[in-house]
Amino acid sequence: MRELVLAVVAGAVAAGALTTSATGQEPSATLDTTVQAFLDRHRGSWRDLNVPESDGRILHDLVVKRRFTRALEIGTSTGHSGIWIAWALAKTGGKLITVEIDPGRHRTALANFKEAALSPYIDARLGDAHQIVPSLSGPFDFVFSDADKDWYKNYLVAVWPKVVPGGCFTAHNVAGWVLGRGIREFLEHLKSLPDANTIMAKGSAEGISISCKR
Ligand SMILES: C[S@@+](CC[C@H](N)C(=O)[O-])C[C@H]1O[C@@H](n2cnc3c(N)ncnc32)[C@H](O)[C@@H]1O
Repeated sequence: MRELVLAVVAGAVAAGALTTSATGQEPSATLDTTVQAFLDRHRGSWRDLNVPESDGRILHDLVVKRRFTRALEIGTSTGHSGIWIAWALAKTGGKLITVEIDPGRHRTALANFKEAALSPYIDARLGDAHQIVPSLSGPFDFVFSDADKDWYKNYLVAVWPKVVPGGCFTAHNVAGWVLGRGIREFLEHLKSLPDANTIMAKGSAEGISISCKR
């Protein structure tokens, strides 16, 4: 039986069916199957202020399309957006730093990252992003801001100098019904940046701004 399995795997490798992921962690076809199965199992069960699937997919596609590799997420929660971003980074050979202040959510996120086989692509930090984010050296080519909305502008001020040209700072919940003062201040600050091009993601359920550095 063991010989049969080995022969099948060897045949698949010879035929090019299994390729190694960019970081060499796991064959990419296997990883895709594992992540997709994880997302299928958990669909409809994200209850901790997580992004909807459509928004996760937008982040994933942006990272893959622009070949981003140095990513930061502010606001992990239980890891739904982190899964989508890290899945993309597994394809580009990158890594995600993600920050969460709530110990219970951080713990659940770690378990989810493990179950999805994405832990090797994620550095999940527990603590207050108000302190952690300004202390990160960067550089970053992808940032996703999804923690406390009244601090969005401060996160942008701290991180924008560490975003490389061509890199993008994205932010969640920036469109829709009533925009709070924090989001309005954030959007005003974005407008004042001379080297930022900002668009709103098409098809986002909850509004994602994408600001890329010239
Ligand atoms: C909207 S949820 C993030 C959802 C996550 N991006 C997802 O889609 O799975 C916001 C998270 O930010 C966390 N948060 C709020 N203020 C924070 C802070 N100062 N530092 C770190 N995390 C914070 C909250 O505990 C919460 O889990």
